[in-house]
Amino acid sequence: MIDFSSKPLFLAPLAGFSDLPLRTLAKRFGCDCTVSEMISSNAFVYEHDKTLSMIEKSPLETPYIVQIAGSNKDIIAKAVDILNQFDGIDGIDLNCGCPVPKVIKQNAGSALLNDPKLLCTLIETIKNRSNKRYTSVKIRLGFNTKMAHEIARDLANAGADFICVHGRTRAGGYSAPVDYEAIARVKSATTIPVVANGNIDINNYQEVFKITGCDGLMIGRASIGSPWIFKEIKENQSINPDEKKQIIKEHFELMLKTYGDHAIGIFRKHLHEYSKGISGASEFRCMVNQIHSAEIMREQIDCFFDPCRAIS
Ligand SMILES: Cc1cc2nc3c(=O)[nH]c(=O)nc-3n(C[C@H](O)[C@H](O)[C@H](O)COP(=O)(O)O)c2cc1C
Repeated sequence: MIDFSSKPLFLAPLAGFSDLPLRTLAKRFGCDCTVSEMISSNAFVYEHDKTLSMIEKSPLETPYIVQIAGSNKDIIAKAVDILNQFDGIDGIDLNCGCPVPKVIKQNAGSALLNDPKLLCTLIETIKNRSNKRYTSVKIRLGFNTKMAHEIARDLANAGADFICVHGRTRAGGYSAPVDYEAIARVKSATTIPVVANGNIDINNYQEVFKITGCDGLMIGRASIGSPWIFKEIKENQSINPDEKKQIIKEHFELMLKTYGDHAIGIFRKHLHEYSKGISGASEFRCMVNQIHSAEIMREQIDCFFDPCRAIS
């Protein structure tokens, strides 16, 4: 289902952003594979109903991967059992990149890179238990030091079907330079597909393919405020301001459909991103922060993103 020979583009899991509406738009614009926001395996097991809404997907989303986080083998196994009850999920990904202290304290996320044996046991557990086509793992280059190439083969032997590599260590957070050569070392160390991630955008994607030799690219922040990036990469042509306006309007309608009136507050952060580079953006951002009505939000989107005032 994921055709790695065609160098697929993935939308990165982005907690608080890559929800159903953003993933729907990304798919519409040519993203090949979407991944859910990270879901704690504990949440699956103990907060069943609330968590289930997080795995909801658009009919466009095939293949669709659900990402789980955790470090307890039994809880992970139970989470997989729950996911096994749902059709339409094509893979389960284990988060081994999250740098957040709350997650690290539980020995999960990027902390698993400090315990490769446990990490491989968890991958084995998912692989053996899951009825999904794919088991994958999203890692960083290491916790403090770059060691991902040393565990790539073990991850494959444990049952990972592909690996996504964010080219920073946990210590590098989200701003250290991305080490694409280190991603290339992961690629050389294993025979399973490797997907490169970290600061990939419209300007550098070809170079990232060249340096890393990877089988696919995963795009995160460059898709926020530009869900059309997948089309721009695939068709090598930019989206015009009028199309952008239509997409932003559609994004808001999808948000309303998903979240009801809560969408008005949640959509502000997206409008902040969409407005970047357009004159009057900072006034627009202040103004949308005060809006509490969907109708007024619609009017303001219509007015602000008018192609006549857009600087593309
Ligand atoms: C707001 C935000 C939320 C994120 N949430 C997740 C997540 O849920 N799971 C995950 O594996 N990575 C998460 N990440 C990391 C991204 O998937 C990605 O690895 C990282 O941002 C680097 O790629 P980029 O430069 O293309 O954004 C998140 C990053 C950001 C900025």
